[in-house]
Amino acid sequence: MPVTILIGAQWGDEGKGRFVDWLAGSAQVVARYSGGDNAGHTVAVGQKVYKLHLIPSGVLHSEVVSIMGNGMVINPVNLVKEMDYLAGEGINITPETLRISTRAHVITPGHIALDKAREAQLGAGAIGTTLRGIGPAYFDKTGRTGIRMGDLLDVEVFADTMTAALERSNAQLAQMGAELVDVPAAVQAYVDAADRLRPFIQDTTLYINQRLQEGARVVSEGAQGTLLDVDHGTYPFVTSSSPTSGGALTGLGFGPTHVDRVIGVAKAFSTRVGGGPMPTEQQNEIGARLRGTGENFWDEYGTTTGRARRCGWLDVVMLRYAAMVNGFTELALTKLDVLSGFETLQLAVGYDVDGQHVTTPPSTTYQLARAVPIYETLHGWEADLTGVRSWGDLPVEARQYVSRISELLELPIRMLSVGPERTQLIQVS
Ligand code: GDP
Ligand code: IMO
Ligand code: MG
Repeated sequence: MPVTILIGAQWGDEGKGRFVDWLAGSAQVVARYSGGDNAGHTVAVGQKVYKLHLIPSGVLHSEVVSIMGNGMVINPVNLVKEMDYLAGEGINITPETLRISTRAHVITPGHIALDKAREAQLGAGAIGTTLRGIGPAYFDKTGRTGIRMGDLLDVEVFADTMTAALERSNAQLAQMGAELVDVPAAVQAYVDAADRLRPFIQDTTLYINQRLQEGARVVSEGAQGTLLDVDHGTYPFVTSSSPTSGGALTGLGFGPTHVDRVIGVAKAFSTRVGGGPMPTEQQNEIGARLRGTGENFWDEYGTTTGRARRCGWLDVVMLRYAAMVNGFTELALTKLDVLSGFETLQLAVGYDVDGQHVTTPPSTTYQLARAVPIYETLHGWEADLTGVRSWGDLPVEARQYVSRISELLELPIRMLSVGPERTQLIQVS
C-alpha cells in the first residue's frame, strides 16, 4: 500500500513542508489535497529558503510529480506568480511535473474582498483569517456556485463565467458597504493566468489512481492542521477545509485501502496564529522566548502573513485527539532545538474543565476556552542540538522529553528535526 499521508497535528506551521521534502526523496508523487495559499510551507536547503504556498513541497525533487488535488482552492494569478518565483530559482515546472485538478475550485478577487469584509464585520470576534479568500471560495463550492479549474480550459466561456461570478460577489460586497472589485481588470488578469495554466489542468483523480495501480509511492501533503479542520478543529476559529486524513481521501479521490502510513507532524511546543482558544498559550517571557525575535526565518512569524504566532507549551491533550481523529501511525517532531536552555519543560497531559479532570479536549469551543492545563514537568537541557544527527547524541533530557511524548500518545516518534535545514534531521530507529 503506497500512500503516506502527512498531517499537521496542531494549528498549522508544524514544519510539514520540510518533512514532505524529506519523504519526497523516496516517492514518485507528492499531492496537496486541501486549502490554498493560506498555507506557507518552508523548505530550507543549504542557504536557500523556499516558501511554498500552493505548489506541493516535493517540487525541489525534479523527478517527483506534483499534484494539486480537487480538494484545493486555487488563486490562478498567485499560482502563476509562484511558478515564476520557482523558475527564477532554477526549478523547472512542466505539465509533466505539475498536474492541477480540473475539479479544484478557483479563488476570485471577489472571494478575497468578501473574506476581508467579513473579517472587518466580525471586529473583535474576527477569526484572524489569512485574507486569501479561502472561506468564501469553499462557501461557493459547497453552495454549488463556484468556478472550477476545469472551467479555465473553456477559452470561449471562461471570461463570461468569471464576469458573472464577480458580479455576484460585488452584489454581496455592495450590501456590506465594502469596496467593489474592478470586474474588467480582474477578468483580464484571470484570462491571462488561464492561458498560462491551461496545459497543467487535467483529471488528477484518474492520474493518481493510475500511478497507484502501477505501484508509485505517493505522499499526501496536508496543509493547515488538525485543530483548524472545519469539523474537528476549534470551530469557528478554523479554516474551511478538511486538513485531516479523511480530507486526503476526498481531496485527491482515492480509497483508504491505499494508505499505509499516517504521519502527524507536531512542533515540540505549541503555536497558533489567529483567534480561538489555545489552552497552553504563554503570554509571558516563555512565549516570547519560544517565538524568537523574528531575526531568524524560522522564528514564529507567519510564512504567509508575517503575523506573530501565539506560543506555548506542548499540548499532549490536543495531540492525543489529533492522533485519534487522523489515525496516526507515528508522530514526527520539529523544532526540538528551540527548547535548548529551558531549565524545565512543561507538557499539558490533562485539563481541568469546570472542576472536572479530562484527558481529551471538550468538543465545544466555549468549554475549551475554560480549560486549564494540568502540566507534567520535565528537565530541560542546555546543549545546542542543531548539530546533532543521531538519537544517541541527544542529551538524555531531550531523549526523555521525546520518549515521554511518545509514551503518552502511545505512538512511535521516528523522525525529529533540530534545525530548519533539510539535513538537520534525526531518524529514530
Ligand atoms: P508548515 O506550514 O507546517 O510547512 O511550516 P512553516 O514553514 O509555516 O513553519 C515552520 C517553520 O519552522 C519554518 O520557518 C521552518 O523553516 C522552521 N523549521 C522546521 N523545522 C525546524 C526545526 O527543526 N528547527 C527550527 N529551528 N526550525 C524549523
Ligand atoms: P500551513 O499549511 C497556520 C489559520 C488562520 C486562521 C484560520 C482561518 O502553513 O500550516 P483561513 O485563511 O484559512 O480562512 O484562516 O486558519 N490558518 C493557518 N495557520 N498555518 C496555516 O497553514 C494556516 N492556514 C490557515 O491563521 O486562524
Ligand atoms: Mg505554514
